[in-house]
Amino acid sequence: MFKTTDQFKEVCVLGGSGFVGSAIVAKLDAAGYSVKVLTRRRESAKHLILLPNVQVEECNVADYHSLNSALRGADVVINLLGILQQNRRSTFKAIHHQLPAQLAKICVDLNITRLIHMSSLQAGENAPSQYLRSKGAGEAALHAFQNQLNITIFKPSVIFGRGDSFINLFATLIKTLPVVLLAKPDAKFQPVWVEDVASCFVACIPNTATYDKTYELAGPKVYSFRELIKSVMNALQVQRPIIGLNDKLSYAQAFMMELIPVKLMSRDNVRSMEIDSVSEQSFPTVFKITPTALETVIPQYLVDQTPRGAYDRFRRTAAR
Ligand SMILES: NC(=O)c1ccc[n+]([C@@H]2O[C@H](COP(=O)([O-])OP(=O)(O)OC[C@H]3O[C@@H](n4cnc5c(N)ncnc54)[C@H](OP(=O)(O)O)[C@@H]3O)[C@@H](O)[C@H]2O)c1
Repeated sequence: MFKTTDQFKEVCVLGGSGFVGSAIVAKLDAAGYSVKVLTRRRESAKHLILLPNVQVEECNVADYHSLNSALRGADVVINLLGILQQNRRSTFKAIHHQLPAQLAKICVDLNITRLIHMSSLQAGENAPSQYLRSKGAGEAALHAFQNQLNITIFKPSVIFGRGDSFINLFATLIKTLPVVLLAKPDAKFQPVWVEDVASCFVACIPNTATYDKTYELAGPKVYSFRELIKSVMNALQVQRPIIGLNDKLSYAQAFMMELIPVKLMSRDNVRSMEIDSVSEQSFPTVFKITPTALETVIPQYLVDQTPRGAYDRFRRTAAR
């Protein structure tokens, strides 16, 4: 028997400690859901512990029995697990493909009928990168459970907002380097605000019209990579020359970056940019959201990185 939507009270979030997860968990908390965040290390989710309806539980999500026991009692499961670069311990296949399949099976076993899953725009079996193909395989694995579960899948373009990796990484590089050597300068993105994404996740939980649906989430404007970096420079009030790299140099630069301990960009990330991260659909009307533009938001969270913002922060810290 499927639970009715007014019986949805307990929401379990995998990947709730991350950038997108934290925004979703805060909205779930505010909406009055009782939220359990599963994490490998409680420390990574400590910023969520203060929220009144949120509990954080350590769990090895890769282990069937640990995940099964952590999910007991949940009415709804949200899966946000994802990695941009793989290593020996975490592979795209394990995190993006096998784990969603295992999660869906556990949901069926425990009679948890509502599952909301995060994929990525342009994910699919013929996508150019391992990241996108594994996300596509995860979606396909979930489609096999469509008769047993009420699943909603979201496929966003790049997500921006306070605490993001993408915009903040380039803001740091712009401030640090005299010139930006930009891979794939003509690749296209349609950035979407994290708060808009989080609102969609929370709004879809009880909305039966969103069952068995897949939604692309993209913002109001398409940018080339070069235009996006220009917008970050404008928000920072810092101008640097941008040298666009051709394909060969883009991959060569990514290869060099793979050799350093700080993971900036991999060749697989460059392969993801072979296909534009742009949606042909308008923002899903079912959520009644007008997506927010990048330019209205990034100055708010990059402000600390501007000379004036750094000065104000220093004054605040010094209480002067
Ligand atoms: N950010 C974007 O622009 C964007 C765009 C499209 C799609 N997405 C998708 O949205 C989801 C969330 O992205 P995000 O930017 O919020 O990522 P994030 O900040 O890196 O968070 C990812 C979460 O996944 C968990 N995780 C990572 N590696 C894991 C592993 N090996 N085993 C178990 N858990 C692991 C982490 O949980 P713990 O460390 O707490 O265990 C973390 O909370 C991902 O699926 C991503 O692919 C993101």
